[in-house]
Amino acid sequence: MAIDSSPSLVYGLLLLLLSAFFALSQSLYDTGDPPLTLDYYAKTCPNVLQVVRKEMECAVLSDPRNAAFAVRLHFHDCFVQGCDGSILLDDTITLQGEKKASTNIHSLKGFRMMDRIKNSLESECPGIVSCADILTIAARDAVILVGGPYWEVPLGRKDSTTASYELANQNIPSANEGLLSIISKFLYQGLSVTDMVALSGAHTIGMARCKNFRERIYGDFEATLDANNPISKMYIEKLRSICPPIGKDAEKNITGMDNVTPEVFDNSYFQMLMRGEGVLNSDQELYSSLLGMETRALVKKYAVDPLAFFQQFSDSMVKLGNITNSDSFLSGEVRKNCRFINT
Ligand code: HEM
Repeated sequence: MAIDSSPSLVYGLLLLLLSAFFALSQSLYDTGDPPLTLDYYAKTCPNVLQVVRKEMECAVLSDPRNAAFAVRLHFHDCFVQGCDGSILLDDTITLQGEKKASTNIHSLKGFRMMDRIKNSLESECPGIVSCADILTIAARDAVILVGGPYWEVPLGRKDSTTASYELANQNIPSANEGLLSIISKFLYQGLSVTDMVALSGAHTIGMARCKNFRERIYGDFEATLDANNPISKMYIEKLRSICPPIGKDAEKNITGMDNVTPEVFDNSYFQMLMRGEGVLNSDQELYSSLLGMETRALVKKYAVDPLAFFQQFSDSMVKLGNITNSDSFLSGEVRKNCRFINT
């Protein structure tokens, strides 16, 4: 995982990436001032926030992992064509959706939960609230319901009439991707290194499949752990029992990405990274990569200062939600069913 390199080369590379990707992202997406407002539905659907909250309360009460599903769905939506509900579209004869892209297939969940919220809103105020806005509000509520921070959600997104399987494969980072490549994917969306580290803190909730942490636990997990700590030793043995070195069947076995409080939104994910116990390669790299001077400092900060993490996470979630695609503002719609474009 750690790449040997001199600091000047590192910063040269980062600088190069920064300028190249910023230039590219500015030309593709309007990340400036999206026309979103806090009171967008004040007249047309005044109860929108209460309806989403009620549905999310039921969902998270019945299974806390539903909170993780909602947060991840929003992230995967916004990284492909901006936050436009494209992630929710099913495959049809004329449209290839994003659900079968490599990072999503057999992994993204929570689609029926979104259907339920949409149905309730269609009863309350038909044809008014976009699926993209539902995802954004649901993600915010999910975080609060498992103990995380509150933030106000700008609204007024439109739903796309397209999806992009190709961009889903291209834009969404994966577990065994290098730190610089992941940073560049965030910069491309107009998000900073600080946003990237804070948003990765979403891994304080939810689970990962063996397929995504096998390379890590049979790779350099022991090198990042404190070898003298018997608890750390027990932890790697536990992970290896969940995820044996070979076997297709075991690929779907799961473990919490936060090994202390996997159902609570707190800063223990960052403390875990400081112990060298990150489950995904991409998680541990934030702290252990030789290229990660800035990310390491942020991990340390959030590990000791939960309020700083909560504040930055809230700000970064608003930035994530503001990734817009000007196309969907011009030719977008409010879908009646989040799985299909309107006929
Ligand atoms: C920084 C780069 C990121 C990478 C490489 C990454 C990768 C992954 C992977 C591999 C999983 C496990 C999926 C599986 O095994 O099925 C996962 C789960 C998850 N990710 Fe990320 N992720 C990243 C950033 C984010 C961000 C920015 C958010 C939200 C703001 C997020 C939210 C989640 C959540 C909540 C889960 C748990 C889902 C569940 O329980 O099913 N991730 N991520």
